Amino acid sequence: METIKNIGIITSGGDCGGLNAVVRSAAQMAISMNMGAYIIPNGYAGLYNLTEMNSLVKLDESRVDRVQSGLAGSEAGHSRVKISKIPDPKKYERIMKGLKKFDIGGLVISGGDDTGSVVVDLNEHGIPCVHAPKTMDLDLQVYSVGADSAINRISRFVEDLKTTGQTHNRIMIIEVFGRYAGHTAFRGGLGADADCILIPEVPVDFDVVYEHMKKHYIKRIRESDVRAGTYTIVAAEGMTDASGVHLTDDGAGIDSFGHKKLAGAGKYVRNALETRMKTDPEVRDFMKEMGMYVPNLYEAPEAREVVPGHLVRSGSSSSFDVNFGKEAGAAAVLLLVEGIHGVTVSSVQRGEINYMPTKEAIVERHVELEMLAMYERLGVCFGRKPVTYSPKFRKENRRNIRYL
Ligand code: F6P
Repeated sequence: METIKNIGIITSGGDCGGLNAVVRSAAQMAISMNMGAYIIPNGYAGLYNLTEMNSLVKLDESRVDRVQSGLAGSEAGHSRVKISKIPDPKKYERIMKGLKKFDIGGLVISGGDDTGSVVVDLNEHGIPCVHAPKTMDLDLQVYSVGADSAINRISRFVEDLKTTGQTHNRIMIIEVFGRYAGHTAFRGGLGADADCILIPEVPVDFDVVYEHMKKHYIKRIRESDVRAGTYTIVAAEGMTDASGVHLTDDGAGIDSFGHKKLAGAGKYVRNALETRMKTDPEVRDFMKEMGMYVPNLYEAPEAREVVPGHLVRSGSSSSFDVNFGKEAGAAAVLLLVEGIHGVTVSSVQRGEINYMPTKEAIVERHVELEMLAMYERLGVCFGRKPVTYSPKFRKENRRNIRYL
């Protein structure tokens, strides 16, 4: 096994919270082992272009001290470039030449499923790398840095929207990132007591959503001494209608990983509800009863969609993500040095570094439908008729319990 003198740190895909903790801890661990740590800028674009660069930023003790773990985004920069898609038959040789130029013997790469697929690819081409899992979408088989930060921000946005929603007696719909998995909408919505959470895992029956909305919204306003109430819906950008068709604007385009950009789910939900409210005599009677009804001007409650977009992954990182990021970055360096490549750090527990083949770690994971049934018992609507919750019971082994 060749001794590694220097490591390169790459962050790739969509940025999010906790990434700077990965960068910082990977560099600090490398320094502690007398290795140099270099930022390879702008994801795989930078890796491909290393041969063209004159210098790289070295994260020595003083420079790494300026990388703030608590800030979201990444000091290393990002791109959505997939190496296998670069139309250059000599791309792997070029990358190896670049790494040799800076005497970099291994890479710590933080990213999601697409980034992970490149980790597998590079490793198969003889470039040693270890994957520190990152994605706000939380759709890997392991926890990924960025998810907790995004979930917390979503909860905060939903809570905040309730003040304006309640003041205007509006139905508030918040459309959130998460791609084809509903984890962030699900957990973020629950964190803010959202009334309804629409996720890609459940094709949405809008009649069910409408009835749930009407019941809760009307009840709240009727029971309020100031006749005020709102109803909140968190809609995952990748949600579908009952026939499984994605509710996304076709004009949104394609990103450079080749994925369709998702946009428009919130607008679709608003239209579906407003159309029903406008023609529902029960809603009209309710408006009259509450003294809200004004002919032509205000005949039905309003709905508004809000799309925070990139805000859900910006700003600051949660402490959970900083902790996980630090462990994942440091563990990735230790794995590299140990000669264990092509793997994803899954956790560090009781001092042990747990990992799995990146090929397995990047298999898309979805929200478990069994969990929805439990929350349906607690009154949350998921755009389907509630399913009976019949849990199994299992005695836990203390060794399996995970606190962080
Ligand atoms: O994969 C992370 C993610 O934030 C998705 O949830 C979202 O669909 C996408 O990235 C947005 O990508 P971009 O930053 O390229 O607009």
